[in-house]
Amino acid sequence: MMKHQNYKDALSHPVFTTVADAAKTLGVEAFVIGGFVRDFILKREQPTDIDIVAVGSGIELAQAVAQQLTHKPKVKVFKNFGTAMLPYGGLDLEFVGARKESYDRGSRKPVVEDGTLEDDQNRRDFTINALAISLNETDYGSLLDPFNGLEDLEKKIIRTPLEPGITYSDDPLRMLRAIRFATQLDFEIELGSLQAISAHKERIRIVSPERIVEELHKILACTRPSRGFGLLHDTGLLELILPELTALEGIDEIEGQRHKDNFWHTLEVVDNISKSTDDLWLRWAALLHDIGKAPTKKFDKKIGWTFHAHEFVGSKMVYKLFKRMRMPLNEKMKFVQKMVRMSSRPIVLSEDFVTDAAVRRLVFDAGDHVDDLMTLCEADITTKNPKRQRRYLKNFENVRMKIVEVEERDRIRNFQPPVTGEEIMATFGIPPSREIGILKEAIKEAILEGEIPNEHDPAYQFMLEKAKSLGLDPVS
Ligand code: CTP
Repeated sequence: MMKHQNYKDALSHPVFTTVADAAKTLGVEAFVIGGFVRDFILKREQPTDIDIVAVGSGIELAQAVAQQLTHKPKVKVFKNFGTAMLPYGGLDLEFVGARKESYDRGSRKPVVEDGTLEDDQNRRDFTINALAISLNETDYGSLLDPFNGLEDLEKKIIRTPLEPGITYSDDPLRMLRAIRFATQLDFEIELGSLQAISAHKERIRIVSPERIVEELHKILACTRPSRGFGLLHDTGLLELILPELTALEGIDEIEGQRHKDNFWHTLEVVDNISKSTDDLWLRWAALLHDIGKAPTKKFDKKIGWTFHAHEFVGSKMVYKLFKRMRMPLNEKMKFVQKMVRMSSRPIVLSEDFVTDAAVRRLVFDAGDHVDDLMTLCEADITTKNPKRQRRYLKNFENVRMKIVEVEERDRIRNFQPPVTGEEIMATFGIPPSREIGILKEAIKEAILEGEIPNEHDPAYQFMLEKAKSLGLDPVS
């Protein structure tokens, strides 16, 4: 096995001496392996998960380490997996015994046997994740790198230790991990690996939606998510995971009229929005903002291609997609739905002369999410015509200014009716009834239309007038 320069610097955290001492006492060899080593060499922010592999029992080593620590932390043992977890300061130490593994084809559950360090490195996903640093007295701090992971780190290559077909079909989640790492680290996936991913893509079906989503989140969090989604598309995985997106691909032409390719457009929008926001859910909204265009696409002889009500259809699809992927069906999902549903509203505004009433309606409907909506619309500008691009951006800038102006005056963002239902009931001496809803709606409409300001007294006066037409008289 090749040995490299010393990596003692990576082991400056006191936890490593503790692990080394415990391993020595137990008479087992121990190594730090995986993401921690990779990220140290890449000078990336150090992960809070540290993987320790013991040639022997990982669980026993974890327990011995815990014994050495003054506060005796509790070891979490995962017997079925032969692993143990130990919290230490802000770190999670994960212990595992070195093993040989082969996988059951029907699931991601491995059949495990004890093995050497090299067996353990063999069964890992990528050469860059199989790098280990020794915690043993004889060669403390040496890098153990049987597959030239260090060279792959330098050359920025994602490569599997074994023949790629074996590594990927052992654990198909690795197909997504390869693409995720390529996107995160800006690495290339070695050609054999890429081909193996395409060949084994169907195996993604045995991976749970939760795991898939975890990787999609990580891809979406990258500087340029389109890289990952492009790779998912090219390998055929995307069609199996998010067919709503691949359905957007392609350009149709009828009678010389073409529409844009909404799939590649979407990826541009995601990259654009990633320059303005780290908000994962707003990035999801960008990814899904056009999904309603596939099922609503029609050609009309007079007006050409239409995607009638695609925003509404798209927002319904968001729910189904989240449900299928077992993503949260909570306010995050509702936020994405809302962004998709409203995604064309500011565009319509910016094209016409912007009236205050239209801006008030936009702010009323978008509420606190109006800025996110504007960010999405700005990211949606993907024209390659610089003149047009400037014009569109300028229009949105105008809308944004109007929003601030109108908001300062009318406070529509978190609209609270200036006259409450209780007050209406007391004024007319009536019980809860339809009339109250009608009056409240009329007040809201009058404020949005700018007929009255958003203040109690004028709203109350307006309400009295309106009540007359409903045949209601105030009690004296
Ligand atoms: N691993 C693997 N196959 C997987 C998942 C993980 O071989 N499907 C191995 C890799 O050696 C990896 C280590 O287990 O480095 C730890 O996995 P994990 O914590 O998921 O990944 P990291 O590499 O630490 O990176 P990240 O935290 O960015 O996911």
